[in-house]
Amino acid sequence: MEEKTFSLPLIGDKAPEFKAITTQGDINFPADYKGSWVILFSHPADFTPVCTSEFMTFASMEEKFNEANCKLVGLSVDGLYSHIAWLRTIKEKIEYKGMKDIEVTFPLIEDITMEVSHKYGMLQPGESSTKAVRAVFFIDPEGIVRTIIYYPLSLGRNFEELYRALIGLQTADAFSVALPADWQPGDDVIVPTAGTCGVAKERMESKEDLTCYDWFFCTKKLDKEEVLKTVLKK
Ligand code: BEZ
Repeated sequence: MEEKTFSLPLIGDKAPEFKAITTQGDINFPADYKGSWVILFSHPADFTPVCTSEFMTFASMEEKFNEANCKLVGLSVDGLYSHIAWLRTIKEKIEYKGMKDIEVTFPLIEDITMEVSHKYGMLQPGESSTKAVRAVFFIDPEGIVRTIIYYPLSLGRNFEELYRALIGLQTADAFSVALPADWQPGDDVIVPTAGTCGVAKERMESKEDLTCYDWFFCTKKLDKEEVLKTVLKK
């Protein structure tokens, strides 16, 4: 018997192209999103509790993501009318953790054929062969995959972490720095590691605004205001 292979795009790859029907009309991905960051994410099924809590949280944070030049696109292996009915139920009936009357205005892809889910490695048979896992793809304005996060069916995502990752990616690009564990805007950032013995020596003896924990690990200050001005244009 022929064994089915599963693949997923990797960080640095071009985002696989597809055309899809969504709750906001047809989309041509990623061409329609050129110039914006996109978070393309999958959820297992409509009318399920974890997914409902996630959609309400994401929708209530959408403006924040949009302000960081990022659009949201959701997907599940359900049909368009199920999507529409679920989103109407969320708006009309569900009150959760202070969120109510939540309107999901970002597109939700119908993927009954599983074409998109297969292209993005969202179907992981060890977890479920019919439901997409909770995948999150961060795609940059040039259509390149920059970060991938997967969660299982039973664990809802941390949306503050998704926002932190987005701001972090944009900050690393804009300032040519790397970001340490748990970085938040306003925290020190890591300067590129010294590439020669001379630079390593200079760094350790430097009286500049660097803090060096060792020659290969130096940080500098980056004001929160500067990050927000650059990333959020505020
Ligand atoms: C949920 O979103 O609650 C869920 C969906 C599929 C399997 C398990 C939980």
